[in-house]
Amino acid sequence: MKTPIISPSLLSANFANLQADLDVINRSEADWLHIDIMDGVFVPNISFGFPVLKYVAQLSQKPLDVHLMIVQPEKFIPEVKALGAMMMNVHYEACPHLHRVIQQIKDAGMKAGVTLNPATPVSLLADIITDVDMILLMSVNPGFGGQEFIPHTLDKIRELRSLIERTGSHALIEVDGGVNLETGKALVDAGADVLVAGSFVFGAPDMIERVGQLKRL
Ligand code: DX5
Ligand code: ZN
Repeated sequence: MKTPIISPSLLSANFANLQADLDVINRSEADWLHIDIMDGVFVPNISFGFPVLKYVAQLSQKPLDVHLMIVQPEKFIPEVKALGAMMMNVHYEACPHLHRVIQQIKDAGMKAGVTLNPATPVSLLADIITDVDMILLMSVNPGFGGQEFIPHTLDKIRELRSLIERTGSHALIEVDGGVNLETGKALVDAGADVLVAGSFVFGAPDMIERVGQLKRL
């Protein structure tokens, strides 16, 4: 089985001591750091914003994988770029002019990802799949950490893998929500390249060991 890219989700960190948690993630085998930005409109929750993330970006030695759960995410391309983000993921459901937004993200010098909610079909990606660097499949309804994995995600990965192969796209497949050792293994077996894990990593007694377990499912 191939080794997945691991992107721990900061949403489940201790916000009263982010430096301590970031120090541990820096020392771990994590590949990226997943950053969930919410607006209380696109999703029914608010996480953190750019004034906080400015300090997170300074402390993180891992590339930032930014997931915007907000309406009109294109408004914040300069702010995400200013963080030094490697990847900017926008929701399909939040972008009526998705092609333009993807070009704007790439023109800003970042990799561009498109995120699908659980009820949004993979088939809708047919006309954008060769333009993007990553597809982020939500395996829970976005807005909260610690929710239960939706098994239908496994079918969506297989369908997406076949779309990627058929079109010659280079897009990675990332999955976000309810990832643990059991669901993580099923996801990688189904064709996922990148696993996001929030509560499973930050809730672990030994976060470094837990990231290592996800790397070696
Ligand atoms: C949910 C976020 C996720 C969240 C995952 O809206 O996009 O990144 O942190 O949390 P877990 O891994 O606990 O399901
Ligand atoms: Zn996320």
